[in-house]
Amino acid sequence: MNQPGHLQDWQPDSWQRKPARQQPVYPDPAALRAVLDQLSQLPPLVSSYEIENLKGQLAAAARGERFLLQGGDCSETFADCQSSIIAGKLKVLLQMSLLIVHDARIPVIRVGRFAGQYAKPRSSDTETRNGQTLPVYRGDLVNRPNFDPDDRTPDPELLLRGYERAALTINFIRALIDGGFADLHHPENWTLNFARPGPVADAYQQRVQAVARAIEFMETLTGGAPIPQLQRVDFFTSHEGLHLLYEQALTRQVPRRTGWYNLGTHFPWIGNRTRDPNGAHVEYFRGIRNPIAVKIGPPITEEELVTLCDLLDPGHEPGRLTLITRFGADRVASALPPLVEALQRRGRRVLWVCDPMHGNTETTASGLKTRRFERILQELETTCEILYQAGLPLAGVHFELSGEDVTECLGGACGLTEADLTRAYRSPVDPRLNYEQSLEMALHLARLLQRRPGARGTRVFVGTNPATQPPSVTDKPLVRT
Ligand code: PEP
Ligand code: CO
Repeated sequence: MNQPGHLQDWQPDSWQRKPARQQPVYPDPAALRAVLDQLSQLPPLVSSYEIENLKGQLAAAARGERFLLQGGDCSETFADCQSSIIAGKLKVLLQMSLLIVHDARIPVIRVGRFAGQYAKPRSSDTETRNGQTLPVYRGDLVNRPNFDPDDRTPDPELLLRGYERAALTINFIRALIDGGFADLHHPENWTLNFARPGPVADAYQQRVQAVARAIEFMETLTGGAPIPQLQRVDFFTSHEGLHLLYEQALTRQVPRRTGWYNLGTHFPWIGNRTRDPNGAHVEYFRGIRNPIAVKIGPPITEEELVTLCDLLDPGHEPGRLTLITRFGADRVASALPPLVEALQRRGRRVLWVCDPMHGNTETTASGLKTRRFERILQELETTCEILYQAGLPLAGVHFELSGEDVTECLGGACGLTEADLTRAYRSPVDPRLNYEQSLEMALHLARLLQRRPGARGTRVFVGTNPATQPPSVTDKPLVRT
């Protein structure tokens, strides 16, 4: 096998010689081996062609020519593998991207946290209730959430169920896209039936009308000839590459390309808890050809970040490496600038992507995990300001969001309060922006992107009527660092 020099000692299983965090312990190794053998024979879920295409698009995002919109559940569940729930996630991402494309005039790369986001890192290996201690729930790929010894025992069969659910999900998404679901001529396909009238819905409708007029204009110019870019969009999948035996089983070689690809997803990422440069996850990720991301948050040091970049992208390959920052609204202003400068000094071009969710989680007095819309937005604003001052683009965003009318995050134009949270709190792990909060966030984000270094044109957009704009936090001067 033709591997570059730095990968001569790498194999899909070489991570097994390193310390691996967050891995479940299976009671029956023979059953586990049988499942992994099966899994490694099953067909891939994505192709190397799609992966390389995405890498090219991400390289453009690193240059500020495209924008990555990545979003979905904190943790997918097998029960949510349903047509309406999957279509809802697609709809909200399509609507957000329409707002961004329209208001910020930048092409959007859409990546779902879906079709494989089934394994979760946890802060403890066990959970104790009323004196009974059981293994912690690690996501549907590993065990079941019910607090019962059988349900909590890691079950290898769930690896197969996860692969199958991922295949069903991606199959449905591909069918919808190929069937014209994402056709810009028919944004009515994306309307969610619980959308409430109000400023966010009005702002969205205005953009839809403006896009319809623009399409009419362009099709007049082409003499009615269809413009393929309007009819079809690409959708890519991503998940945290946490469960290394699962990821290894889906790591394959393909004809006429060198190296190994993770063909279980287009764009896997390493979580903030498993990014130890000497650990198993970094060892696994350095050898695959996919574009990859690393979550970086406290307590990362400059030195650690530089080591990670050298290990994961020694060849400075365009589009290869994305850094997803998640420091929290309070810490980002002090933590991020030295990291950005350290990489700039070394001439590294990565995608700087902001995850404004994971550093802003809090627990209510009644014990529910939540996040405040205003804090999320604040981290996004501060991150933009830091990057723009360094002359860099914000290459993308990473949100936990839902296409449903859930009540998990506080605030936003819909004014969700603590008292509302229990009405439709459905996430088994982290709180997500609901449909309306997601669209409102996209409107704010588009305004931040209008101020990006080198943005084209002036700010002439529809929706100049202030009454149809969401309440603006971003019209204030951005936070100085
Ligand atoms: C997540 O994305 O759900 C997650 C656990 O994030 P992080 O690794 O940034 O904590
Ligand atoms: Co999460």
